[in-house]
Amino acid sequence: MSNRGNEHYTKKAKKEWYLARSAYKLMELDEKYHLLEDVHTAIDIWCAPGSWLQYMASSIPQQEWVQIIWFDLKEVEIQLPWVTTYMQDISDVDGVGHILEQEQIKQVDLIVSDMAPDTIGMADIDAIRCIWLIEKTLWIYDTYLKDWGKFAIKVFMWPGFDELVRDLKTQYGASNIMTFKPKSCRQKSKETYIVKRG
Ligand SMILES: C[S@@+](CC[C@H](N)C(=O)[O-])C[C@H]1O[C@@H](n2cnc3c(N)ncnc32)[C@H](O)[C@@H]1O
Repeated sequence: MSNRGNEHYTKKAKKEWYLARSAYKLMELDEKYHLLEDVHTAIDIWCAPGSWLQYMASSIPQQEWVQIIWFDLKEVEIQLPWVTTYMQDISDVDGVGHILEQEQIKQVDLIVSDMAPDTIGMADIDAIRCIWLIEKTLWIYDTYLKDWGKFAIKVFMWPGFDELVRDLKTQYGASNIMTFKPKSCRQKSKETYIVKRG
């Protein structure tokens, strides 16, 4: 995406009261894969400042019973009755497991993961850390996602990406796993999303 394109989504987010332009990525993913259809329980990891929550809140019918558990290192300012947010390092497996147990989470319909780890500008090290962090979360999908559940995981097309896609295809079935780069992603960015359909 050109700078003009970037500016377009940033301005649009401000105008439409979204906390971040990331909202449009989830919107595009949802339009393409109907991610939010029939969702009652969801886990959102890497969730601050909260634009995905804003989009979910406006897309899931209010009469539906929903429970969304959120994790981020930063505090999430936005609050909704059916959302519980935790300031929690997602790589702390015991900490995350304890919270999900406490919340009595059994199985969820959707897991979304919009990661952006701190990078140091050294491509190899950043790539390894990024894949390491994603791998640190895969147990959540194994343990909590319903068989027909959906997910969207932001990843970077750095070393380790192909292997991750291959492993997810092996686990969830090749025809259920897709990759998709929303138009609202920065053109130069290596980010893309791995999606599992329901
Ligand atoms: C791209 S932002 C998420 C944007 C969010 N989806 C939204 O729409 O507002 C990525 C987030 O990952 C969080 N993060 C980075 N490392 C983390 C970690 N180890 N555990 C939990 N959250 C982390 C950052 O604090 C940041 O808020």
